[in-house]
Amino acid sequence: MEHCPRHSPGTGSTTAPGTVLAQVPASSEVVEAASREDSQCCVDPLSAMEQEDKIMQDLGSLHGIPLYKSFIEGWPQVKAFQARPDDLLISTYPKSGTTWLSEIMDMIYHDGDVEKCRRDAIYNRVPFLELKAPSEASGVDQLENTPSPRLVKTHLPVQLLPTSFWEKDCKIIYMARNPKDVAISYYYFHQMAKIHHDPGTKAEFLENFMAGKVPYGSWYDHVRGWWEKKQEKKILYLFYEDMKKDPRREVQKILQFLGKELAEETVDRILHHTSFQEMKKNPAANYETMLPTLMDHSISPFLRKGISGDWKNHFTVAQNERFDQHYQELMAGSDLHFQMEV
Ligand code: PPS
Repeated sequence: MEHCPRHSPGTGSTTAPGTVLAQVPASSEVVEAASREDSQCCVDPLSAMEQEDKIMQDLGSLHGIPLYKSFIEGWPQVKAFQARPDDLLISTYPKSGTTWLSEIMDMIYHDGDVEKCRRDAIYNRVPFLELKAPSEASGVDQLENTPSPRLVKTHLPVQLLPTSFWEKDCKIIYMARNPKDVAISYYYFHQMAKIHHDPGTKAEFLENFMAGKVPYGSWYDHVRGWWEKKQEKKILYLFYEDMKKDPRREVQKILQFLGKELAEETVDRILHHTSFQEMKKNPAANYETMLPTLMDHSISPFLRKGISGDWKNHFTVAQNERFDQHYQELMAGSDLHFQMEV
């Protein structure tokens, strides 16, 4: 079987978002060129089926946390990962605004230079620590080849973070999003990102989400674990809903955390470039450069809606009542509070 050079297996590095791995565009030119339509040129039905089999991952258990089996296979390398003191870790539960925060951080690191931030796809500019897929470079491999200062993405629960991040006292930014929107976003992501099995009906997925039977486990444990860690470590804890409400204020918080100052016009440019509308049409930020066998944006785009409160369009009244009751039980005793809409 013949592959077109741009999409042949093994060319370029890889990395992925909340999950999947990708063909890696080497430059902004390639990012621009590799539109989804273009990338379909090399997919024949047989190879697509074969690839899907390789891409889809069962979940295993990593210290009690459900995780893709390939990621678990790569765990020893992740556990031993050597963080550098000037690494900045972007930590989130999946679908909580990781890509948004990553683009903001890359813009801050490049003083609002839009062209520099088009140099590569976001999944290469901010490598995904625990990413591991068959016959592809792992997140750790990719990070080892990334010059400092590095931005690192992870979805790991706090107790599984490689110890070197704590030993090197790295700065960490955690972003949390309300669980109802996370659940809906995750449901659509399960449909479009081919690492996942079919998520079933929305009702079934919601049950699994509430029970923590999804990749990375319980949302409740994740957000609470990182929240509690903030008492003792250098962690800036942000909320997706605050970022929606007042992105300028949140970017200022980040700048303060970094000890960095930027001119007002630079902040304006960052805010414009990282708005949902701009990111959605930016091939370096919207994940459309991934092979359609990895992500099918025609099922649901990666940058899907980008709002707070979309769950209202999906939850039934009964589901919402059940969810609220469960939420109260699992968040009891915590001073961590979420806005379910803005
Ligand atoms: S992943 O796969 O876990 O890394 O996904 P993640 O990036 O964390 O989350 C994807 C959701 O974030 C939304 N998004 C944004 N919202 C507002 N503004 C901007 N700029 C933005 N960029 C990404 C994205 O649309 C997903 O949410 P939903 O609700 O599905 O639209």
